[in-house]
Amino acid sequence: MSEHTSSSSSSSPRGLHIITWGCQMNVYDSARMADVLRPLGYAPVDRPEEADMIILNTCHIREKAAEKVFSELGRLRKIREARKLEKGRDTFLAVAGCVAQAEGKELLARAPFVDLVLGPQTYHRLPEMVARVTRAGGGVIDTDFPVETKFDFLPDEAAPQNSANLTAFLTIQEGCDKFCSFCVVPYTRGMEVSRPVASVLAEAKRLVESGVRELTLLGQNVNAYHGEWQGEPLSLAGLAEKLRAIPGLLRLRYMTSHPRDMEESLMVAHRDNPIFMPFLHLPVQSGSDRVLKAMNRGHTADEYRDIIKRLRQLRPDIALSSDFIVGHPGETDEDFEATMQLVKDISFASAFSFKYSARPGTPAAGQPFQVPEDVKDRRLARLQALLREQQDAFNASLVGTIQDILVTGPGRKPGQLSGRSPYLQPVHFEGDSSLIGQIVKVHITTQRTNSLGGLLHEEALAV
Ligand code: 5AD
Ligand code: SF4
Repeated sequence: MSEHTSSSSSSSPRGLHIITWGCQMNVYDSARMADVLRPLGYAPVDRPEEADMIILNTCHIREKAAEKVFSELGRLRKIREARKLEKGRDTFLAVAGCVAQAEGKELLARAPFVDLVLGPQTYHRLPEMVARVTRAGGGVIDTDFPVETKFDFLPDEAAPQNSANLTAFLTIQEGCDKFCSFCVVPYTRGMEVSRPVASVLAEAKRLVESGVRELTLLGQNVNAYHGEWQGEPLSLAGLAEKLRAIPGLLRLRYMTSHPRDMEESLMVAHRDNPIFMPFLHLPVQSGSDRVLKAMNRGHTADEYRDIIKRLRQLRPDIALSSDFIVGHPGETDEDFEATMQLVKDISFASAFSFKYSARPGTPAAGQPFQVPEDVKDRRLARLQALLREQQDAFNASLVGTIQDILVTGPGRKPGQLSGRSPYLQPVHFEGDSSLIGQIVKVHITTQRTNSLGGLLHEEALAV
């Protein structure tokens, strides 16, 4: 789980400090919360000690989420008390995100000093809620799933979320109604909702005008995107085609996808739409048909293999990333070996793998045959060793090749530049800072644990 905090500071009389845990959707949501609070005079500050409002944006996907939140709230409470004592100033404390959605009431009962608990569907109502809390004196919960979607209400302007302003995330879809047996998302984020095409295009244009060159479209089920354009349905492939027409937008990615929504038109777009990067995160979770069925994934291991085969036919340089869960209730040694076999058959460039953890209220949590922890540990260690090997092999396979690198900023050493490969690897090489913001050709010469090194391919600007 990664942690990000708001970074820029301002002379505004009201400081806002947002702590973000979890997925990119949360990173994006935090930026939007900052947007809706800006008209109220809130501007980001680096330290919670300086903040008039602190928002803890939480993640519920795996276990101990609530405990982690309570311990962080304890820390923030102390900071708030010290600030009151030293400066006589109050600090508004809000909890947002999926833990807030799932455990709102319990949260307020256990941490009554929290002023506001709000779920991911209600961020657009934040200013109104802040006013309500100020009137009511704290302890308000807003975790309803409103009929209107938050996409209808969020202000259009969104600052690029990367310091160099060259890459940004854009949420185009929210929620999920796939109901995988193990997952809390359908309960915390609600049903699938797609953001209107015009609003996506307007935000994308603004981001590109502000300097963004690479966009990642976000959604819990992003490839289930279904917009409408001039009375006709528009899929993700269609949306990507419209985005392609924005001058200056050089690269496009999307995540997270579900194999069931990997339609032929989207796969073909990986060949035909030049801004699509040849890198796809497509979670499979397990390689066993029995477990996939128990997980309610709606596809078999071979159907997943077929999707990958088709993608590789269409786009031979495509690399794959995935999510895996070991130890889902009922997973036998044989099932686990089927997962190992699928990994060997496909070979992933990167992956995330987790031990199954029971999420209260989900169907899998109540199933018999829970897998013992030590068995899960052993399976995870074996799976991760294999995935690590594959990742190293993939990185090594790029040494000696020439890659298009988006130059994102200066490197750590003087004269060095830092960039991003099509496969999201950081790449370092010597070059002039005038290249920042461009795509250049780099001859990859070295492989390090988490990055690549290279030499600029003379005057070979790709764009
Ligand atoms: N236990 C373990 N991993 C989980 N994930 C989601 N829910 C659980 C759970 N209960 C993993 C899945 C998903 C990723 C975002 O988190 O692999 O794709
Ligand atoms: Fe959760 Fe993804 Fe399954 Fe939806 S598709 S229920 S978000 S794991």
